[in-house]
Amino acid sequence: MPDGENKLRRSTTEDDITAAVLARFAATPDPRLKQIMLGLIKHLHEFVQEVELTETEWFQAIEILTEAGKMCSDKRQEFILFSDTLGVSMVVDLIGHRKPEGATESTVFGPFHRLGSPEMPPGGNIAHRDTAGIPTLVSGRVLDLDGKPIAGAVLDVWQTQSNGLYDSQDASVDGLHMRGKFTTDAEGRYLIRTVRPVNYPIPSDGPVGAMLKATGRHPWRPAHIHFVVMADGYEAVTTHIFDRTDEYLESDAVFAVKESLICDFTRHETPTPQAAKLGVTGPVLTADFDFVLKPAGAVAQANVLDAQRRLAALGAR
Ligand code: BEZ
Ligand code: FE
Repeated sequence: MPDGENKLRRSTTEDDITAAVLARFAATPDPRLKQIMLGLIKHLHEFVQEVELTETEWFQAIEILTEAGKMCSDKRQEFILFSDTLGVSMVVDLIGHRKPEGATESTVFGPFHRLGSPEMPPGGNIAHRDTAGIPTLVSGRVLDLDGKPIAGAVLDVWQTQSNGLYDSQDASVDGLHMRGKFTTDAEGRYLIRTVRPVNYPIPSDGPVGAMLKATGRHPWRPAHIHFVVMADGYEAVTTHIFDRTDEYLESDAVFAVKESLICDFTRHETPTPQAAKLGVTGPVLTADFDFVLKPAGAVAQANVLDAQRRLAALGAR
């Protein structure tokens, strides 16, 4: 019998139950798992005691978690939504990606990334089926901390359509849309054709939506485009660029806005030469954003895309 399990504790009280449970985990061999389990139990018990959680409320929490689990599929990830709307994703982001001065800041990954988006040439149009949105060119460079271009960096990009829906939320869209992988040229440059990003509400037809409603919160996210930017020898960055004019920058439902990620989307009434070359005939927006990557550390960072692959293997992405 492992240490700590050999003392019979038959009559635990509110005051000593936590110590009894902690003792039961004392022999956990993996030190990191032990630290996480002990911390989790300590804080969970403190929380239940602080709010004096009732049995009815405890059952309600079980129902909510069950409902969240049942909603998860290859198109829906309610647990990521919970983490994002409770601000936990951003706490994990902030402690996990303390960037040196100058490196592009990261932000939430969100639940709408999909594996297998198509590789696109410079200027490729991720919004090829979206005729309602305003054509938009996003361009810039991928650089290292010294400002040197990184050739061959890959930008995995995704965005909602101009109707505010991701492809996976829109029953009228078959397959992938508003997604692409772009590779930087010898000068570290990339060029993406898309449509103007719009603000949109996160899915609120499940337990997360019920939580937002019950707590008087709105579900809106400011207009943005998602990126994972990666290059050999550098730490990949998961991030967004946000439209500076958006009304929800101050109240993003998932707390993901960082000042350095806010970008100007400039309107031109007639196509710029670059837009004309790509076949744009009317008004166009341009946004310019450089991504700066820091060198990979000695210990390889967990890659969000590997986590995605594991979720996919569960049928949950
Ligand atoms: C998104 O931007 O795709 C997103 C992020 C967090 C929660 C819901 C959506
Ligand atoms: Fe998004």
